[in-house]
Amino acid sequence: MAESAIQVRDLCFSWSSGEQVFQSLSLEVPKGEFWMLLGVNGSGKSTLLRLLADLLTPQSGQIGIVHPVGFVFQNPDHQLVMPTVGADVAFGLVEEKLSISQVRQRVTEALAAVNLLELQRRPIYALSGGQKQRVAIAGAIARRCEVLLLDEPTALLDPDSQLDLVAQVQNLVKSRGMTALWVTHRLDELNYCDGAFLLERGCLIDRGEPKRLRQKLMEVAA
Ligand SMILES: Nc1ncnc2c1ncn2[C@@H]1O[C@H](COP(=O)(O)OP(=O)(O)OP(=O)(O)O)[C@@H](O)[C@H]1O
Ligand SMILES: [Mg+2]
Repeated sequence: MAESAIQVRDLCFSWSSGEQVFQSLSLEVPKGEFWMLLGVNGSGKSTLLRLLADLLTPQSGQIGIVHPVGFVFQNPDHQLVMPTVGADVAFGLVEEKLSISQVRQRVTEALAAVNLLELQRRPIYALSGGQKQRVAIAGAIARRCEVLLLDEPTALLDPDSQLDLVAQVQNLVKSRGMTALWVTHRLDELNYCDGAFLLERGCLIDRGEPKRLRQKLMEVAA
C-alpha cells in the first residue's frame, strides 16, 4: 500500500457540551495525493481538519500526519495578517531563524509557485479573494509544508477563481509532491482530486473514486 501522509485511527471527539462528533473514525490520505472531504453542514468536516492541524485534541484515537502542516481557511481575511503580499508570506517564517536572503528566496519561490510573484509588493487589501487564497497557500509553501489542509477555500470565490484555485492546488500537489485535503460542497471541484471522503454525522460513509462519488451525490441531490 502507498505510504500515507495523513492517518486517522479510531478517532473519538466530543465537544465540552457532550455533543459527540466522531466515535471511532478512521481514514488515510496517501502521500502525494489530493483528496477532498464532502458532507452536509455539521457533518464534522471542519472539526476533523482542526483535529488534524492539532487545533483540537481528541478524547482518544491516533492521528498521524506528516509535518509541517499548512492550513487554509475559508475566509482569507482571517488568515492574512501583514500589510503586503511579500510581508505576509515572510511572516510565517519568523520562527525558522533564517537569514534575510534565505527568507527572500523562500518568499520568491513560494509566490512564483502560485503565480503571484509580480504582486509581491501589493497591499493585501488590493487583492481579489482568489489571490488572497493563493497568498495563504504561498505561506504554506514558504514554510515547506508537506501537507495542506484547506477548509472550503473556494466558498467565497466566484466560479472562475474557484476552478483556478482548485486547478492550482492540483498542480502544486503533483509538481511538489505535497498532499492536500480539501473540504468542499461544490461537486464540480471533484474533477480535480485523486479521491474523496464522504462524511455523514461524523461517520465515514463512503470513500474512493471522485467520479463515482460525484455521480452518487448528484443522484442524491436530484
Ligand atoms: N466550537 C464549537 N463548539 C461546539 N460545537 C461545535 C463547534 N464547532 C462546531 N460544532 C458542532 O460540531 C458539529 C460538526 O461541526 P463542523 O463545523 O465540523 O461541521 P462541518 O461539516 O464543517 O459543517 P459546515 O459544512 O457547515 O462547515 C456540529 O454539530 C457543530 O454544531
Ligand atoms: Mg465547516
